[in-house]
Amino acid sequence: MQQYIQENKERFLSELLDLLRIPSVSADSKYKGDVRKAAEFICEKIQAAGADIAEICETAGHPIVYGEKIIDASLPTVLVYGHYDVQPADPLNLWDSPPFEPVVKDEKIYARGACDDKGQVYMHIKAFETMMATNSLPCNVKFMIEGEEEVGSDNLGIFVKANKEKLAANVILISDTAIIANDIPSIDVGLRGLSYLEVEVTGANRDLHSGVYGGAVANPINVLSKMIASLHDENGHITIPNFYDDVVELTPTQREAMAETPFNLDEYKKDLGIADVRGEDGYTTLERASIRPTLDANGIWGGYIGEGAKTVLPSKASAKISMRLVPNQQSDKITAMFTKHFESIAPAGITVKVQPHHGGEPYVTPTDSKEYRAAEQAMEEAFGKKPVPTRGGGSIPIVALFEKELGLKTILMGFGLDSDAIHSPNEHYGLFNFYKGIETIPLFFKYYSM
Ligand code: BES
Ligand code: MN
Ligand code: MN
Repeated sequence: MQQYIQENKERFLSELLDLLRIPSVSADSKYKGDVRKAAEFICEKIQAAGADIAEICETAGHPIVYGEKIIDASLPTVLVYGHYDVQPADPLNLWDSPPFEPVVKDEKIYARGACDDKGQVYMHIKAFETMMATNSLPCNVKFMIEGEEEVGSDNLGIFVKANKEKLAANVILISDTAIIANDIPSIDVGLRGLSYLEVEVTGANRDLHSGVYGGAVANPINVLSKMIASLHDENGHITIPNFYDDVVELTPTQREAMAETPFNLDEYKKDLGIADVRGEDGYTTLERASIRPTLDANGIWGGYIGEGAKTVLPSKASAKISMRLVPNQQSDKITAMFTKHFESIAPAGITVKVQPHHGGEPYVTPTDSKEYRAAEQAMEEAFGKKPVPTRGGGSIPIVALFEKELGLKTILMGFGLDSDAIHSPNEHYGLFNFYKGIETIPLFFKYYSM
């Protein structure tokens, strides 16, 4: 197997670069055709690698690629999930090279989607090709690669509910997360949930002269800023009543184990260019970014933002707000709590509109299972070091739904690094990580099938 990977290394990379050239931005309808092209590319490659079935499944939105290789119905089946859609690339001027013209520099592939998630999806396709070509696929495999992960996976949820039999499997395997460092392998054993919504506050029925009316009429920007600021208290706790009611606190033993996770605060600050961190009192940086819920404005706008000055008191101001959730918080419940609270804190003369976007539930992977041990063994063999279990801060909403609808646990065996700049300008993925993934995935299959 190693030999096959070595001999085909360059081709694996050049194919990935071809995939990265397709701007499959799911959020922007302008790229609809390109999103489909990426689906077709993935479908062809799954077919060419030796699948029995590789097909494009239509949805109300972007298509899902489904593939399978059943070698023996009595053997277990691994369902590989990933996404071929990517985040928008803007702000474009902050990229050192164009986001959809991949370049390899300093042993890293620079392109939007290089790590999240095209590079990691492609490792699975090449690992499958390698197992097929070397006659070493030890169990059945199914692929479900979607095009709407970055916009909430709504149509995938519908697809899963409608295709339970087709998707029947024993475990789900996903590479869409990160390891601690290239010499510190780790496996994510948790994802946070999400409530994402948009708020709009309205004052007067039109924009006003800020001299003629300023001081006498509520300014929606001032009010919105104050309302958002009031959502945290001075200790960094979220002030929405009952917000923490369902939060499962870690036991002291679990927190001690977490404190053992390799983490260097000075490097963390240096990497981000910040003098200090900030968050909820009583929790470490790692805890704040994984096992604690959060509330953050992701965007805010209103009034005049063009060149120069315009004296105006705007009629409206808006913001996009995300809340990351932890077990056992529920997205719908939190969205309702937020809405009620946000409406209640609006001052007289201001109306508030809250519009939910998408959500997802948190997930925790048990570590006392056959599949977790298989992932652990695979990583230990490939990296020469036993992987550390970590709780991730990001969200992959479909994972909780897989458990609910298919009754399946998910192994999050990702190979990215937090420093890969996913969702940011200059996203990249290490060649080391790409090839290490291709090497590790067949080992997972091997140990899982034993
Ligand atoms: N791959 C990420 C999630 C992720 C990144 C998990 C790093 C753990 C570590 C995924 O593509 C993503 O960005 N998810 C979105 C959620 C979605 C509903 C837009 C997120 O977390 O913001
Ligand atoms: Mn992803
Ligand atoms: Mn993402």
